[in-house]
Amino acid sequence: MSQIYDLILHNISLASFYYLDKDDELKNPYGIVDKPVICIKDGLIVDIFNADDPSIDKLETEESIDGHGQWVTPGLIDCHTHLVYGGNRTNEFEMRLNGKSYEEIARAGGGIVSTVKATRKASKDELFKLASKRLSYLMDEGVTSLEIKSGYGLDLETEQKMLEVAEELNQFSGIEISKTFLGAHAVPVEYKDRPDEYIQLVCETMMPELNKLGLIDCVDAFCEGIGFTVKQTKQVFEKAKELGLPVKLHSEQLSDLGGSKLACEYNAWSVDHLEFLNRYDIEYLKTSGTVATLLPGAFYFLSETKLPPIQALRENNIPIAIATDSNPGSSPCLSILLMLNMATTLFKLTPAEALKGITINAAKALNIDDKVGSITIGKQADLVFWDIVSPAELSYQIGGNPCKLVIKKGKVIINKN
Ligand code: NIG
Ligand code: FE
Repeated sequence: MSQIYDLILHNISLASFYYLDKDDELKNPYGIVDKPVICIKDGLIVDIFNADDPSIDKLETEESIDGHGQWVTPGLIDCHTHLVYGGNRTNEFEMRLNGKSYEEIARAGGGIVSTVKATRKASKDELFKLASKRLSYLMDEGVTSLEIKSGYGLDLETEQKMLEVAEELNQFSGIEISKTFLGAHAVPVEYKDRPDEYIQLVCETMMPELNKLGLIDCVDAFCEGIGFTVKQTKQVFEKAKELGLPVKLHSEQLSDLGGSKLACEYNAWSVDHLEFLNRYDIEYLKTSGTVATLLPGAFYFLSETKLPPIQALRENNIPIAIATDSNPGSSPCLSILLMLNMATTLFKLTPAEALKGITINAAKALNIDDKVGSITIGKQADLVFWDIVSPAELSYQIGGNPCKLVIKKGKVIINKN
């Protein structure tokens, strides 16, 4: 019996990011499929035919879209953001341009703790409005899944408020949001010089309470000289393990403390930043299957000069993801396409590697690659249509937005055609 589809997409060029095996991936890094006709039912991709297949004339569908030759990619995935926060830090940007460093500002009571002040003060409604506006810019460029971290509350009440805003965005924005608890982001002023006591609060009160409320998908920490030590991070990861929660880590951004190695011991979904990652520690990522998430926006905005060990990651076949790290201090970035450009120009990723970094590898970094991140039968119909001549154009172009149509779970959510 022939099936009646909800939606058929035809007359498109397809970069699927789906590979049969490693060899296929090397030969066809964009996963280009010739003359595809994509059939969607109940939000899923259920068939992909070749346009020359004579049986396609008999296909029945409620609706069809003629892509007029536009390129289609998987819905984009931003796997590292701090999108919910109050205020902004334009003043610190100005201070840095007058000679102060990011670390100096943080140590003098600015930095993350100044955003904490503004976030504690803001109502849930205000935070929702601010984050929705930021999210709308990312969605406008084809983002259909995204991660949001807490970490600008640093007390139970405000961490809860941030994660509840992330959950509301998950329910009302039309896209899927993964919620990360980042209680160990910085030491709040009321715990100044008592970081161990603060970590105690994170582990014994915040994490279990927020987990009980179903607000945590993953646990993160900032392992750094201006953040937490490896020992403190380990306490956070031990608690996460006890609660059955997965982990990820901000590590090796400004120095090599060995946080990535620790994260891999806890099978972290990803380790993020990595400018100072010791090339010998890459072995641990390999063993644990951890994704290396690179954040070119923070590298650029902080005028960093030390590059992550990209060639060594590549040689070891570590999946590399790219994300905006959208946050008020180190990456006030609301464009995932700009990150594609920076991943290629600053980090020298190939355009195909950069695109993999915001599709299939970003899905791996959020442990959702069974559902999204590539275009293949059985996955969710999360797709973006682009007015471009080749997929590399998405990294090549600086500014402008060729996103024309976005489909989330089989439904058109943006149409600019
Ligand atoms: O990912 N490194 C820690 N967290 C953010 C910066 C947060 C901030 O400066 O507000 C980051 O870069
Ligand atoms: Fe971050």
